[in-house]
Amino acid sequence: MTDHYAVTGNPIAHSRSPTIHTLFAAQTGQDLRYDALLAPFDGFATTVRDFAATGGRGMNVTVPFKEEAYRLATVLTPRAQAAGAVNTLSFEGADIRGDNTDGAGLVRDLVHNLGCPVEGRRVLLLGAGGAARGVIQPLLEHRPARLLIANRTAHKAAALAGVFPGTTACDLPALQESEMAFDIVINATSSGLSDEALPLSAGIFAAGALAYEMVYGKATPFLRLAAAAEVRGVDGLGMLVEQAAEAFFVWRGVRPDTGPVLRQLRPGSA
Ligand code: ATR
Repeated sequence: MTDHYAVTGNPIAHSRSPTIHTLFAAQTGQDLRYDALLAPFDGFATTVRDFAATGGRGMNVTVPFKEEAYRLATVLTPRAQAAGAVNTLSFEGADIRGDNTDGAGLVRDLVHNLGCPVEGRRVLLLGAGGAARGVIQPLLEHRPARLLIANRTAHKAAALAGVFPGTTACDLPALQESEMAFDIVINATSSGLSDEALPLSAGIFAAGALAYEMVYGKATPFLRLAAAAEVRGVDGLGMLVEQAAEAFFVWRGVRPDTGPVLRQLRPGSA
């Protein structure tokens, strides 16, 4: 029997998850179907419960429902607890198991795909919303030399640093004045979506730094800053594919090879 999965969010039509999971299923010989389901803003829980009631095995959750999914889950993995958000649901009997594969996806993209180890490196995380929070614990597990959380609104960064020992926090003007440089700079703000520039200069990048933009498929102001600083800039497509692979593994116990899928999705690739 074909197992049924879906991604839900609002909006959802743009989602690449059905393509990615369908490619994973073909590659690994898993018999499954994966759809995109639009959830009304006030109807997330109903969408999930209906899908589970009709035999659905699991769901991915995207903007703006990851925090609601965290509250809906009846069982949470440690990494979902640390993230305070859920992007992967599994329906197990009466239980809704909530997991979060975003941080694992980012770290796997950095370390395996981009050849950029986190251990011993100075890491700057821009932003203090849900996207930033989701990746802190997985980054810390790779023992960076330091992990600074910098946010436009200082108190949100400070609150996160209070939750995650081993991190420090500041606001963007203080970061700019500090003249500190970093080996890995991750833009987890939503500024790229609205095409807004961050008030930062090229000095935040150490020699040989990597600039990682979580938004994908777009030359954001952050990536333009990286290009002007002549450091390597990458978008979040690799993270998207890797978090999907991790969810696929959670559901199916099989780890797909992400390389061919990433190459297929990259614009201009064969
Ligand atoms: P997400 O779930 O994508 O993290 P969010 O929780 O709304 O979304 O958080 C958005 C993040 O992007 C916040 O850190 C926000 O900064 P504030 O906390 O100061 O609001 C940051 N952000 C969004 N637009 C920004 C901009 N133009 N400049 C700087 N930071 C921005």
